[in-house]
Amino acid sequence: MNSVKVKSPGTVANLVCGFDILGLALSEPYDVMELTLLNEPKVIIRNKDNFNLPTEAEKNVAGVVLLSVMERMNNTIGFEVVIEKHIKPGSGIGSSAASAAGAAVAANHLLGNIFSSDEVVQFAMNGEKLASGVKHADNIAPCILGGVSLIRSIHPLDIISVPSPDMFVTVVHPQIEVRTSDARQILRQQVLLKDAIKQWGNIAGLIAGFMKNDYELIGRSLEDVIIEPVRSILIPGFHEVKEKCKGAGALGGGISGSGPSIFMLSKEEATARQVEKVMKEVYDKIGIDYNTYVTTINRKGVEVVA
Ligand code: HSE
Repeated sequence: MNSVKVKSPGTVANLVCGFDILGLALSEPYDVMELTLLNEPKVIIRNKDNFNLPTEAEKNVAGVVLLSVMERMNNTIGFEVVIEKHIKPGSGIGSSAASAAGAAVAANHLLGNIFSSDEVVQFAMNGEKLASGVKHADNIAPCILGGVSLIRSIHPLDIISVPSPDMFVTVVHPQIEVRTSDARQILRQQVLLKDAIKQWGNIAGLIAGFMKNDYELIGRSLEDVIIEPVRSILIPGFHEVKEKCKGAGALGGGISGSGPSIFMLSKEEATARQVEKVMKEVYDKIGIDYNTYVTTINRKGVEVVA
């Protein structure tokens, strides 16, 4: 076998209080990638979508991941990849991570799964470095592993899969672009101790809520006193969406990754659909185009489909 097709899911990073350390995988949207093993050291990229992403391997998120795998194999092999993206770049739902993780998992599969999942994450993080300037794994890890991931540490890599109850995730993507690198640059470099105390209480509460299937605790813990006050300025309608979605019964939510998408968790599908309606009403009123998704937590991560 020298070809493989994978589905690589969108992800919600940060989960409000866990900047750079928490993320979950979504059942929808997802990218589709087809990878073929070549017997010469080159990376060929073909785009099967309209996003006009670069096809030079060094400038393409999947490309740099494949180059790093190729290098690890002493340049004895190469890859051709056909990428069909459905996750819009710059949406805040892990578009670059899906390309990077999909490429890393597919390459490992073609090589007979010789790399551990930590090594696959390491390869994929090269793509995040290209996309945002920083190696963070809070999209990559859940994209590869599925479910909820805690990235306790990057150096050394320490990733924990956190059990979580089934929930519905509603996402609205207002059609404005927020570059992750810009959304990182505006953050303050210092935090107050009182804010840090609130934040680590919420992170611990969220993890405990997931592990105890305690929806109320999950909802109470979805609070961010450090990042959201700064980044929400970049997202028109953010506070109105959040308040009205909670009014409609969502457990809670906030900025997805670095935005501009906003996500909300709900216990029931009917609530998640009501939350979607509320999101649409807010952006219809403001006059900004949007996409919405009502989906669930993806438990499988990147999936080999053929
Ligand atoms: N943790 C990263 C950030 C995720 O918030 O900048 C980017 O998708």
